[in-house]
Amino acid sequence: MSDHIDHLLTETRRFAPPEALASESATDAALYERAADDRLGFWAEQARELQWETPFTEVLDWQPPHARWFHDGTLNVAVNCLDRHVDAGHGDRVALHWEGEPGDRRTITYGEMTAEVKRLANVLTSLGVRAGDRVAIYLPMLPEAVAAMLACARIGAVHTAVFGGFSPSNLRGRIDDAGAKLVITTDGGHRKGKVFPLKPTVDEALREPGHGVTNVLVVRRGENEIDWVDGRDVWYHEAMADAEPEHEAEAFPAEHPLFILYTSGTTGRPKGILHTSAGYLAQTSFTHRHVFDLKPETDVYWCTADIGWVTGHSYIVYGPMANGTTQVMHEGTFDTPTPERPWQIIERYGVTIFYTAPTAIRTFMKLGRQHTHSSDLSSLRVLGTVGEPINPEAWIWYRDVVGGGTTPVMDTWWQTETGAIMISGLASVTTLKPGSAQVPIPGIEIDVVDDSGASVDDGDGGLLVVTSPWPSMLRTIWGDDERYRETYWEKFGDRYFAGDGARKDEDGEIWLLGRVDDVMNVSGHRLSTAEIESSLVAHEGVAESAVVGATDATTGQAVVAFVILKESAAHHPVEEAERILRQHVASDIGAIARSRQVFIVPDLPKTRSGKIMRRLLRDLAEGRDLGDTTTLADQSVVEAIQSQLR
Ligand code: WTA
Repeated sequence: MSDHIDHLLTETRRFAPPEALASESATDAALYERAADDRLGFWAEQARELQWETPFTEVLDWQPPHARWFHDGTLNVAVNCLDRHVDAGHGDRVALHWEGEPGDRRTITYGEMTAEVKRLANVLTSLGVRAGDRVAIYLPMLPEAVAAMLACARIGAVHTAVFGGFSPSNLRGRIDDAGAKLVITTDGGHRKGKVFPLKPTVDEALREPGHGVTNVLVVRRGENEIDWVDGRDVWYHEAMADAEPEHEAEAFPAEHPLFILYTSGTTGRPKGILHTSAGYLAQTSFTHRHVFDLKPETDVYWCTADIGWVTGHSYIVYGPMANGTTQVMHEGTFDTPTPERPWQIIERYGVTIFYTAPTAIRTFMKLGRQHTHSSDLSSLRVLGTVGEPINPEAWIWYRDVVGGGTTPVMDTWWQTETGAIMISGLASVTTLKPGSAQVPIPGIEIDVVDDSGASVDDGDGGLLVVTSPWPSMLRTIWGDDERYRETYWEKFGDRYFAGDGARKDEDGEIWLLGRVDDVMNVSGHRLSTAEIESSLVAHEGVAESAVVGATDATTGQAVVAFVILKESAAHHPVEEAERILRQHVASDIGAIARSRQVFIVPDLPKTRSGKIMRRLLRDLAEGRDLGDTTTLADQSVVEAIQSQLR
C-alpha cells in the first residue's frame, strides 16, 4: 500500500472540464452550496423529481443505524422508470440498443419496454408472486433481465439477482437465504463465441428439496438442449403470449423493499444487502444525471457492468431508466469476436457517455491502442469508472486514447451497500486529478478517520466513513440485522464504516487505497478470503488454507491460495493438486473465484496467538521483501514456503 501512496503523492496533473461541457450543462457548483445549506431540503428536492402517488411530508427518520427516507410517501418504481416517460410523450425514445454477442441486435423503445413489463407483471402475478415475495433472477445481459427487475418492482416483489457466473450451490444459498419462490433464468447466453448454459445450474441448485421455489420462468436465448420439469418450468415467451397486456400499477410506500443483492463480507457467508424504493431511486437518478452531465434527449449511454452486480442495478436499470436514458446493452465479452468490439459498438450507436471498470481499461491498455483506431470514438464526451482504485496511468490512457484527450474521466466510488455513487466529481464542474475519486457528491458527508475515530489531517491516510445517513443506503442485511449493526456501525458509532482505506490530500480531496478487511477486489468483483478458504478446506484433500489478494497488473488483485494438504492427498504431484483445487473452487463458488495460483505448502505462517499472517503471505505472493517477521511463531515456516515459490 505504501508504494501506492508514494506514487499517488507525485501525481500533479489537473484537468478542468472542457469549456463547452461546462457552459452547456444543467449541473453547476451551486448544488454543493444548496446541499451544504440544507442537506435534507436538498434531498427532498431531488426526491420530488420522481413521480409520487402520495407526496411525502417527512424527509428523514433516523434511528441509528436505521434510516427511513421520505417514508410517508408512496410511488411505484417501475412507473417512474417507464410509464412516466411514455406519458410525457417519449414512448418512441429508444430505451435499449441491445447487442447480442453473435451480432444480433434489438432496439427497444420506452413504449415497448413499458408494454413488456406490464405483461410480465401479469405473468408474475399469475404465477402467484405477490408484493413482498422474493424472486431470484439468474440471467445474463438480456433485455429480459431489465424487464424482470422492473416487473418485480411494478408488483412490489423483491428481486435478488444472482450473477450468471455463480455455481449451483451459491445460487441455492441465495435462493434459500432470500426465500425466493420464483427463479427467472434462460436456457443459455452467448459468451466467448459459445453458448453458456444457465438453466442446468438452476436445475442443479433446486435438485435437493427444502427450497420454496414453485416455478422457474425460462427465457429462450441460447436454444441449447435443456431438461424440463413439467409443472415447474414455464417458457417466458409462452407465458407472455398468454398474458393480459394491460396492468394497473399500485403505489407502494417509499420504504417498500426493492431488492436484495448478495455481496461478500469478511466471513464466509455472503450478506444480503437490502435496498428500498424511493431513496434509492432518488439518489441513483440524481447521481446519474449530475455526475455524467446527462442529457436524456441526446445522450447515448453505455455502462458495461453486468446486471447481476450493483452497478448494473443502479446504473443500467434504475438510475438511467428513471432519467429516461437511451442506452446500449451488450451480451458477451469485449474480445469476442475481436478486440475491436467495444469501439465498434461505440461508433455504431454514437455512444456519448461510457462507464466501465479499471480492469477493463487496463485490459484495453495491454491489448494496445491500435484497436481503438479503426473506430470513430469522437461521439464520446464523458467517461466513467467504478469498482476499484484507478491508477493515474490507466486514467490518462482512458482519457487520451478513448476520450481523444478531451473527455473528463469520472472516477466514482461507491459500494453495493451505498446503492449509489458517493464520491466523485461532477463532469461539468470538477477539475479532476487522475487517481483521485475527488469529493463527496452534494448531499453526502464523508470523512477519513484514524482507528480511534478522529478525523485525520489533510494529507494523511485512514479509514473511510460516511458521517450521516444517505437516501440510497442499505437498510439492513436481509434476515440478520445484528450483522448489519456489527459490520457497519459498531466501529465508529453512528458513522458508517465502509471497509476502505482512504487518504485526504492537501485540498481535502479523497484518494481510495483499497479494502482494509479480508475482502478482495478481483476485476472489480468482491470476493471474501474466508469464503474461498472454506471452499478449499471443504475439499477432502485439504487440511488448511489461507487466501490472499495479491496485486495484479490487470485485475487489480488476484486470488492466491496457500494450501496444506492432508497426508492422504500428499501423494498427488504438486501441479495436479494445484489444478484440482483451482477447479474445485471454480465449481464450488464460480469461475470468478478461481485462484491465479495455488501454492502447496508444508505449513502456514502464524503469530504466536495462532492468527495466520496474511500480510506476510501477500508479501510472499507479490515477491516483496518480507517486513517485520518477529511476531511469527516459527520462522522456518517462511523459508519452507519461499522454497516452494521459487
Ligand atoms: C471498491 C461496486 C476505489 C471499494 C460499485 C469498495 C472502489 C468496493 C471504487 C465495493 C473506486 C468501488 N475507487 N475503490 N472508484 N469503486 N471500489 O460492492 O473497495 O462491488 O468498497 O460495489 O469496491 O464493491 P461493490
